[in-house]
Amino acid sequence: MSSEPAPLSPEPAPAPAATPPAAPAIEPEPLTLDLVKDDVELSGFISAADRVMEGLGYTEHGFRHANLTARIAYNVMTRAGMDEHIANLACVAGYLHDVGNMISREVHGQIGAVLVYHALRERVSAGDLALVVAAVANHEEENGAAVSPVSAAVILADKSDVHRSRVRKGGQVEFDIHDRVNFAAEQSFLRVDSTAKTVTLELTIDTQISQVMEYFEIFLGRMQMCRKAAQVLDCKFKLTINGAELA
Ligand SMILES: [Fe+2]
Ligand SMILES: [Fe+2]
Repeated sequence: MSSEPAPLSPEPAPAPAATPPAAPAIEPEPLTLDLVKDDVELSGFISAADRVMEGLGYTEHGFRHANLTARIAYNVMTRAGMDEHIANLACVAGYLHDVGNMISREVHGQIGAVLVYHALRERVSAGDLALVVAAVANHEEENGAAVSPVSAAVILADKSDVHRSRVRKGGQVEFDIHDRVNFAAEQSFLRVDSTAKTVTLELTIDTQISQVMEYFEIFLGRMQMCRKAAQVLDCKFKLTINGAELA
């Protein structure tokens, strides 16, 4: 009797490839100031960033500065003729521009952009978020520049917030030059003239506290950045101090 080899058991049929479950369709939300203000994580970033800045001895960088930068950036965009959607993106970027200080003052723009990206990437459209994070990343003169109209509006809004209410210290004896210049600034207003195509930073400075030269000493780089930002909005940047046109 011949011994037939036992028939090999047939290869099991490959299991049908599992169909991945359909990702739930998430409708992106409009990226507005209300959306980011209601976000607990982002609010926590702003508070934490201001605590770090206080620890480092810097001027106020909390909700006051965030809200003011947001409002000015929005106004710059609408006065420059941009539509509501793009003006809202500048508003959001203005509100969030300094959150990177929560981690480090050094390259805080770039750090903040990554934080904002992760906080919002599952809620808003990628295109809108890209414009906002680029504006956040590029708002400081050491390592940024006006890369779009949204970015230009954030730069102009941020650099125009020079005011005595930002100084935290009580006694003049502790003031450094930044505190002195901020404390001397009694008023600052960013005026956009859409007909003349000018963006003018109008400052009122108490020259008993800080001389105009001190202002230039620390703000020359910022003013050059503002000049280029205004150009991106097809405008000319001007600076007046106590009514005199200086640039
Ligand atoms: Fe900043
Ligand atoms: Fe700022």
